[in-house]
Amino acid sequence: MPKLALFASGNGSNFQAIVDAVNKGQLDAEIPLLICDQKNAYVLERAAKANIEAHTFTFKDYGTKQAFEEAIVSLCQRHDIDYIILAGYMRIIGNTLLEAYQGRIINIHPSLLPSFPGLHAIEQAFEKGVKITGITVHYVDEGVDSGPIIAQAAVDIREDDTIETLTERMHETEHELYPKTIARLLETKGRKICK
Ligand code: GRF
Repeated sequence: MPKLALFASGNGSNFQAIVDAVNKGQLDAEIPLLICDQKNAYVLERAAKANIEAHTFTFKDYGTKQAFEEAIVSLCQRHDIDYIILAGYMRIIGNTLLEAYQGRIINIHPSLLPSFPGLHAIEQAFEKGVKITGITVHYVDEGVDSGPIIAQAAVDIREDDTIETLTERMHETEHELYPKTIARLLETKGRKICK
């Protein structure tokens, strides 16, 4: 069974959707680890409820990005992790993680990339007045939201939408797309052995 480490910084609704999909038998994977970088994040409560081991790495406890990521890589390797799944993890992934898990780090972003990368993507699309936005699942590379695209789903922006109503539909779409995309990817690629 492929082993996933989920990385999150906040609410963790995507974390929850992936855990639920595993529990319902819709995603054949194990989730031995949650990696979090914020000690008060709500996702930590979700992990506790789901009986998933959670580790919080506070960046300022480490001198450099390299030292911070080395600690994370070492924990992931101890758990024999195959794929890293970013689910609202608000840090740019550096070389240490990228080299250890080359081609095996996946992210979800709330826009139709390459439009609206970076922070506040839902607001960016709404304010620009585009009529269709959506969700992208992609591989992580050294850039910001720039890696190869794996899957996308469109979300219409309606005349009467507010940021709140649009955000709600965006999240619903994420929760459907992310577990399905991971399941498909694992079926195609199978389990890869860590370096
Ligand atoms: C999602 O919108 C995701 O696309 C983005 O961060 C948000 C995380 O939400 N990368 P949640 O913590 O999973 O609820």
